[in-house]
Amino acid sequence: MFIERLLVVLSLLGLAPNVEQQKYAAVFDAGSTGSRVHVFNFDSDMGLLPIDQEFEFYQAITPGLSSYADDPKAAADSLRPLLDQAEAVVPQELRSTTPLKLGATAGLRLLPGNASDAILEAVKEYFEQESSLDYRPEWITVLQGTDEGAYIWIAINYLLESLSGGFSHTVGVVDLGGGSVQMAYAISDSAASTAPSASPQGDAYVFQKLILGTNYNLYTHSYLNYGLGAARAQSLNITGDRGNPCVTNGYESTYDYNGEVYTAKPPRSGTNLRRCRALSRKVLKIDAPCPRSNCTFDGVWSGGGGDGFSNLYIASYFYDTAAESGIVDTAANAARIRPIAYREAAKRACRADVESMKAIFPAIEEGDLGYLCMDLVYEYSLLVDGFGLDSFEEVTVVKNVDYKGSLIGAAWPLGCAVELLSL
Ligand SMILES: *[C@@H]1O[C@H](CO)[C@@H](O)[C@H](O)[C@H]1NC(C)=O
Ligand SMILES: *[C@@H]1O[C@H](CO)[C@@H](O)[C@H](O)[C@H]1NC(C)=O
Ligand SMILES: *[C@@H]1O[C@H](CO)[C@@H](O)[C@H](O)[C@H]1NC(C)=O
Repeated sequence: MFIERLLVVLSLLGLAPNVEQQKYAAVFDAGSTGSRVHVFNFDSDMGLLPIDQEFEFYQAITPGLSSYADDPKAAADSLRPLLDQAEAVVPQELRSTTPLKLGATAGLRLLPGNASDAILEAVKEYFEQESSLDYRPEWITVLQGTDEGAYIWIAINYLLESLSGGFSHTVGVVDLGGGSVQMAYAISDSAASTAPSASPQGDAYVFQKLILGTNYNLYTHSYLNYGLGAARAQSLNITGDRGNPCVTNGYESTYDYNGEVYTAKPPRSGTNLRRCRALSRKVLKIDAPCPRSNCTFDGVWSGGGGDGFSNLYIASYFYDTAAESGIVDTAANAARIRPIAYREAAKRACRADVESMKAIFPAIEEGDLGYLCMDLVYEYSLLVDGFGLDSFEEVTVVKNVDYKGSLIGAAWPLGCAVELLSL
């Protein structure tokens, strides 16, 4: 009370900082195909404010940092146009308090030897010398899958405005990418205290997160090699030249993934939903030993479920496949559906012939003609066999979130910005 009055008096005298002050955050996303910068502007209550009519300022350049493997300094210098524009967006007096973070995804992780370390060192040096924003060495990192999952969880819950009522009001998130699938949801203190210390792959399961003044135990796991493209490759690798019961009738081609080429054709007996489901379960290693109780698949601890998991948002390829197969209207940005919808659509896709696919599924993309049955069955199996959902339990499949009347994609840089400004 006294402090508040003092602040009012001081601000009347023009001595205190303006308590209504805005905040900015700049997040660099260094991806394999290019580098991007996202700048966000928040009001004093941490509500998003528009920058030039959009809820973020966004710029992209190509190629990505990993294209400069032999010349770390050139890699760092390539960020100059992004840094210049990000700085220009932030009012001068706020620059020194605006956090700048860079997260490198996929591409940089794959560089041989210590090339990625050398690039990140050069980037740190560059920001140290050139940035007027609040740069810190520990904010220049290679993002792990678990970081991405956590940031997407923060972004979705932020946009849904569900971060003010304790963990039981938050929603869980499953993000199905090409290479990996991420799961993230908040768990209770008691569940967190019984968590295994690390996954079979050596990653921690539970992270303490302070977000907008609330502490969360965030369970997150990234299942590497279980993304949609990786799952196709795994499935085709198992069946080889015999033919794969998930591939569309009449389709005959090859599938390229990570530099490997796989045969893609149905077996002589034809596409078959039941056999495809059995194959999906094999891909998911449903029967792998579970080192402790409560596993999802491949021996991974499930987090135990609970209130933070009861309302689930499923994103990325879950949305794309749902839109292609008519489960959701392509004009819808989000929809309440049940996992069984993927199975119902699979019945039609697995029965169809490659010639009739476009007539049955008008929204399908050319490259997916041979794989719709496979993708639908995999996504159904992932939800039901993998994550243990009931086929009839409602989930929300989401592309963009409606935030104060605007549609915003829940990408990791937004979640990262919210966390940076919560510190
Ligand atoms: C990378 O490795 C080489 C030789 O192994 C070493 O000379 C160099 O200092 C390393 N660079 C960084 C940035 O760690
Ligand atoms: C393909 O399957 C073989 C075993 O049949 C396995 O050794 C290999 O690692 C698999 N390749 C990929 C890319 O999964
Ligand atoms: C597994 O789940 C059950 C029920 O949700 C719970 O009672 C039990 O403590 C969990 N065990 C572990 C090791 O998480």
